[in-house]
Amino acid sequence: MRRWAPAILAQALGWLLASFILQQLAPAWRGTFPEAAMAGGWAAIFSQRLHEPGWRSPMQFGFSLALWVGLHSIIPGWAWAVAFALSLLMFGGGLTGRRAPLYLTQSRALDALLACVPENLDGNCLDVGAGLGSFQRRLAPLRPRLQFRGIERAPLTCLLGNLRCRLADCGHITMGDLWQADLQRYAVVYAFLSPEAMPALWQKALEEMQPGSLLLVNAFAVPDVTPQQAERYGDGDSDVIYAYRLPGPRGP
Ligand SMILES: C[S@@+](CC[C@H](N)C(=O)[O-])C[C@H]1O[C@@H](n2cnc3c(N)ncnc32)[C@H](O)[C@@H]1O
Repeated sequence: MRRWAPAILAQALGWLLASFILQQLAPAWRGTFPEAAMAGGWAAIFSQRLHEPGWRSPMQFGFSLALWVGLHSIIPGWAWAVAFALSLLMFGGGLTGRRAPLYLTQSRALDALLACVPENLDGNCLDVGAGLGSFQRRLAPLRPRLQFRGIERAPLTCLLGNLRCRLADCGHITMGDLWQADLQRYAVVYAFLSPEAMPALWQKALEEMQPGSLLLVNAFAVPDVTPQQAERYGDGDSDVIYAYRLPGPRGP
């Protein structure tokens, strides 16, 4: 089953069950806000029964309510289309492939990053999936010997991120797919992506990065690979920067 199918199935079943129950017991309530609340409650339960992650249950509930509000609001139809288009341009980078949505490197990760990147390191540094350039903006002023660059797939995010980086004089961000980027010329590659992306990124790093170069990973460790260094920056399980030293490119 496609990964979005259980979410849609839970939502659809929630609405079907709620409208069936109200049709039998209180037809006057059909199409009202309580029907949406009941549909959301059922959708949350179905989501659990379909073994969806726990955080999706409250989302299912909220989605049913939002659907009702959307259908009954005075906001014109085109405004939803514009909002949808803007969301796609901003967050679309995380929709396909190895799901890495937009969330930003926080300032509290800075000390951990600094601990992993030696002060005297020269060369190029690439943020794969650069978002709004938060990594570059935080690290570049404190590691002036590195040349910072980012690559970002979502067009609007890339535009804003590039602007922020250029205004702060901390490199630039170009639009593109990180899986097409050549990592060979980078002394440091930084990735804050998703658990799904890590095995493929590690494979790509092994094939392309130079011996001794550094793969920095925020939050999502490479499975079955021991990092050279792990610096915690918060109490959460994923509040860790992992540093992997590359053993060298693999020949064909
Ligand atoms: C978790 S955010 C990290 C943002 C930034 N690196 C930071 O730390 O603040 C992941 C970013 O990767 C982007 N992304 C996802 N897949 C991508 C791909 N294949 N190529 C380029 N960017 C991608 C997303 O659009 C998103 O902006």
